[in-house]
Amino acid sequence: MKEAYTIADMVAGGLTTKAGDQLLSSGGMFFINTPDDKDITLSKFIKVAIPTTARQKGMQLYKGEAKADGTMDWIDPKPIPEAPLSDYLQKGKALFSSNCASCHREYKDATGPGLAYANERFDKLWLEHFVHNSAEMVANHDALSVYIYKSYNSTPMVAFPNLSGDDLSAILNYATYEARANGIGPEQIPDIKKAFDSCRKYCELTHVLEEARSRQVADNGTFSNIHYDTAVIWQFIADNGITIDDDSSNAPAVITHTEVPSEYYKVEVNAQGWYNVDVLVEDLPGVMQSELTVRVAGGLKGEVTTYLVIPSHKIFSAGGLLTGKSDMYGFYEADGKLSLPQGVQGYVIATAEQAGKLYYGAKEFTTAIKQDIEVNVLVTTKEQMNAAIKQLELGDIAIEAGKSKNADSIARIDSLLKNSAQLKPQQCDCSIFYAEHDTGFILEAEPRRR
Ligand code: HEC
Repeated sequence: MKEAYTIADMVAGGLTTKAGDQLLSSGGMFFINTPDDKDITLSKFIKVAIPTTARQKGMQLYKGEAKADGTMDWIDPKPIPEAPLSDYLQKGKALFSSNCASCHREYKDATGPGLAYANERFDKLWLEHFVHNSAEMVANHDALSVYIYKSYNSTPMVAFPNLSGDDLSAILNYATYEARANGIGPEQIPDIKKAFDSCRKYCELTHVLEEARSRQVADNGTFSNIHYDTAVIWQFIADNGITIDDDSSNAPAVITHTEVPSEYYKVEVNAQGWYNVDVLVEDLPGVMQSELTVRVAGGLKGEVTTYLVIPSHKIFSAGGLLTGKSDMYGFYEADGKLSLPQGVQGYVIATAEQAGKLYYGAKEFTTAIKQDIEVNVLVTTKEQMNAAIKQLELGDIAIEAGKSKNADSIARIDSLLKNSAQLKPQQCDCSIFYAEHDTGFILEAEPRRR
């Protein structure tokens, strides 16, 4: 007796599956002979069974005939008698019809997913818990349950607390059998477990990458870095007899300098020997109480770094948002007031980085008592920005845009983040991996064993 039930067996045995000119798909072949190849007559029936998980409808029994060239021709097809469902599958079918068929079909989507192959895809215990009480699984943040629940429009499944594990297996085995018998393979039924696993991988990976990214950004320092020589500033204050008012109760509200973390870029300012605008007080010659506000156009979302440069008085100051504004900046008091020398040349420079791009804009102006300056910021490169700054007559101050310390590793992480998006199935929502009561990232994909 020789048997070949898999493609590998057939190839190894040199067996072909041709009927005349037509190719057949085979569920298995067998060959029976006497050991010494004698011509014999069968006086009794021989019962033959071919192992299979499901018999496809329309299968037939063929007789093999060896041709002169050694290949086989399969002839004389006969129908195979319809085998009745085993008692076990019969029981599964009955349980399915009375309990599940109102929402599920064997292998097609309905209110709930087709049940075929669920027994091969999901953990057995998990399936039992889900069918016993899926609402409880969802409430307990079991991520797989939440994923399925959300994939089916957040429709909960009725609970079957008394369905035994054996009965559930019979139902699911019956559904799988029906699918196979109708030629529906696992690849034809959406694999919700596989989609879930992919979602989990995506969420874990992006979480790790985002953590790594924020560590790199935190280690990068700020976008704008200004270096003053404070000794020079104190000397100026002493030389000009400027008194520092220690009584903070009548001090004006002042702006907070814009400080944003650096991602890909940074701007280094060397202002050694220059003074902050707050050293200018009204009693210095030519200096008057003024108002200077700067509006940044260009539609940037976050805060923009702004600088005020007055070369004649060696003034360099970083700006900050005015009280209650989201696109208007000042350089000393929170309403834009400051003391300025009048009628001299000044510059306002605005720069930012957003979504990996560098932005720059500058405006030259002549100081006056009250003015509102608009600066348009545009996408640029650090080379273009540095060239544009060189065109301004800023004196001996150095302002230079460069690559941030961790720009390369952040770029690598960002490209991995972009690639990981391929893992993300449609229904994937990473919040299902966070339990409400926990602040950390926890995975609750494992079934809760009771
Ligand atoms: C009232 C409608 C309804 C009935 C009745 C019902 N289900 Fe469901 N079932 C659903 C819905 C909807 C989902 C998917 C959403 C969810 O609840 O998580 C689901 C999901 C499932 C899942 C998990 C998802 C998957 O891909 O297989 C299994 C297993 C399941 N049902 C088995 C059963 C069995 C077994 C029965 C009968 C004993 C049954 N269901 C009866 C509505 C129902």
